[in-house]
Amino acid sequence: MTQRLALLVTGARGQLGSAVAEQARAAGHSVTVVGSAELDVTDADAVEDAVATLHGGARAVVINCAAHTAVDAAETDVAAAAAVNEDGPANLAAACARHGVQLVHVSTDYVFAGDATVPYEPGDATAPRSVYGRTKLAGERAVLAALPGAHVVRTAWVYGRHGSNFVSTMVRLEREHATVRVVDDQRGSPTWTADLAAGLVELAGRADLPGGVLHATNSGSTTWYEFARAVFTEVGADPGRVQPCGTAEFPRPAPRPQYSVLSGAAWTAAGLTPLRPWREALHQAMSLGGFGPTQSGVHPAAP
Ligand SMILES: NC(=O)c1ccc[n+]([C@@H]2O[C@H](COP(=O)([O-])OP(=O)(O)OC[C@H]3O[C@@H](n4cnc5c(N)ncnc54)[C@H](OP(=O)(O)O)[C@@H]3O)[C@@H](O)[C@H]2O)c1
Repeated sequence: MTQRLALLVTGARGQLGSAVAEQARAAGHSVTVVGSAELDVTDADAVEDAVATLHGGARAVVINCAAHTAVDAAETDVAAAAAVNEDGPANLAAACARHGVQLVHVSTDYVFAGDATVPYEPGDATAPRSVYGRTKLAGERAVLAALPGAHVVRTAWVYGRHGSNFVSTMVRLEREHATVRVVDDQRGSPTWTADLAAGLVELAGRADLPGGVLHATNSGSTTWYEFARAVFTEVGADPGRVQPCGTAEFPRPAPRPQYSVLSGAAWTAAGLTPLRPWREALHQAMSLGGFGPTQSGVHPAAP
């Protein structure tokens, strides 16, 4: 480690935040971990206090993993989504600007329309199709307006040991059903929280990089159907039990991008470590267990 940082991780009880806290501690940084109960990012005064007291002699960085991630619910609860995804990051960026603190803010592939055929670069035109995507884009803009040196990192298809995600859902469905139908007409890059978290901590340590938007996902791309087959394979189940279907079969309140592969070229060009291929990451993530009772053959409730 080159320099010990004073890190504040917000949204630290979420699937990404908890991984960031773990990676930051493992890297030897001084880490303050706050969930929504300890720091509500929509509370500007509370954010100001938390950021103002962060330094303690070290270079200080906030990694914002707090978000309103209920994509479908956001369609009807716009105010709640905007408060956390736009006002929250705006509060953090303003406080960071006042106190000379760096900010790494996490955003999403949903800022794009999803109709591309080649991976999205950070500078490509955004056109979110959901409330979640629109509020996240507004959050990105608020961050960079208040703190141009901030880093906005878009990611996608995130899964980790903590919380509910596609992998934990597939592990459960494999136990409960003979077959499952999974959409095969949406393409993206599954991203393991541990790999992304390591990248965010690495980025936090880079005082030399200009601010702006970067993309970070595990590399390569797949469809949800192929991703589900890989999860079945990892738990020793027959991937033939996963059947492909189309998005139209599962109508959801919020439209999903059909293609949301994010190019990691800018990330790599910045000298940051590229994230490994998604299939390798999934294998390692699942070999560590924690996604459900079938993992390692040990039920979490077992003595
Ligand atoms: N999940 C994905 O597939 C995905 C894809 C692309 C981008 N992202 C982005 O990645 C980041 C992390 O997402 P995640 O998957 O880790 O989501 P998550 O598991 O839902 O975690 C989000 C966290 O934000 C916290 N939070 C909500 N409202 C808050 C508030 N007002 N103040 C402070 N904290 C608040 C929640 O805390 P409580 O539970 O305590 O309320 C929750 O722990 C987000 O920026 C998200 O937009 C995620």
